[in-house]
Amino acid sequence: EKSGYEHFMLKEINEQPATIYDCLRGRLDAVKGTITMKGIEDNIEALVAAPRYIIIACGTSWHAGLVAEYIIEELCRTPVEVEYASEFRYRNPIIHKGDVIIAISQSGETADTLVAIEKAKEKGAFIFGIVNVVGSSIARASHAGAYTHAGMEIGVASTKAFTAQLTVLLMIALKIAKSKGTIDEKRFSHLMTELEEVPEKVESILKNSQELNTIAVKYKNAVNALYLGRGYNFPIALEGALKLKEISYIHAEGYPAAEMKHGPIALVDKDLPVVFVATKDEYHAKIVSNIQEIKARKGKVIAIITEGDEAIAGMADDVFAVPPADEIVAPLLSVIPLQLLSYYIGVAKGCDVDKPRNLAKSVTVE
Ligand code: M6R
Repeated sequence: EKSGYEHFMLKEINEQPATIYDCLRGRLDAVKGTITMKGIEDNIEALVAAPRYIIIACGTSWHAGLVAEYIIEELCRTPVEVEYASEFRYRNPIIHKGDVIIAISQSGETADTLVAIEKAKEKGAFIFGIVNVVGSSIARASHAGAYTHAGMEIGVASTKAFTAQLTVLLMIALKIAKSKGTIDEKRFSHLMTELEEVPEKVESILKNSQELNTIAVKYKNAVNALYLGRGYNFPIALEGALKLKEISYIHAEGYPAAEMKHGPIALVDKDLPVVFVATKDEYHAKIVSNIQEIKARKGKVIAIITEGDEAIAGMADDVFAVPPADEIVAPLLSVIPLQLLSYYIGVAKGCDVDKPRNLAKSVTVE
């Protein structure tokens, strides 16, 4: 049922305050300072002692893994590698004793991820699955795991499943960091509170959706687009570009903002929209100068900013503001306007946003 929405994709984007809340419910208690996750608790020794985590996934789930790499390395001080399952399965990957494989999948049926899991198992790895569909093949193939509880996702473009994956990964990182002693009490309780506030903040972003519709109409005829971000927001730039490609068939590339000068800047002219994921974090001054470089070359800048950021608002052609949040939690907010921007551009172009051409919801073949 579309519950009155024009498309499943729009419905699922709008469900995110509820799905993120459902994902946190019964697990995170910011007042007591506890995170209850049986899959983690039952295996805490192996997870804490792991010399390395290897995240395997495809598509949007791979982007969630990239955000997790930044978060886990920061909070848990354990090295993380993020691999495309399709590459991992055909390599002869090196897996050391104690390494933990984290497999991420919405459907739990992605063939490449499933085969990569089997390959890692043959080498003796412990598999922790983060899956949305209960009882799916990947859930069954994992030694332990955590469900994302996002509910059924029908739109081919993953939206609510992505934010649920990020929410679970953040809770896992916090829980391991606490057990490992790599996070102090003050930072732990601050991040717990920040995480608990996410559903409300997403709700407030959704209230301003129409601003993105207006921006979408302006840029719907673009042929190419560039998405740039730094740090925790770099994988969000990749995800924004993937969403635009899938939904509107506009060619889009995501890059770390600093990489722009090593090639992509050659593309910039008056017809190129450049989407900056520029919420306030430690890289803010750097991203301001990246925006100036694009403006100097007459590129059109659309910026996702933190509320009250007058500096970027004064420079960009179009801005959309999200509520302030800790930089570790910010990807959960900054991705929402990018999902909506793709949706509205796709609709403005008359594309079939729920079933884009050539794509399947679950890729069960090679
Ligand atoms: O079900 P999975 O999370 O394993 O699927 C992985 C990708 O096929 C999936 O994320 C795909 O990239 C989506 N169409 C993205 O919107």
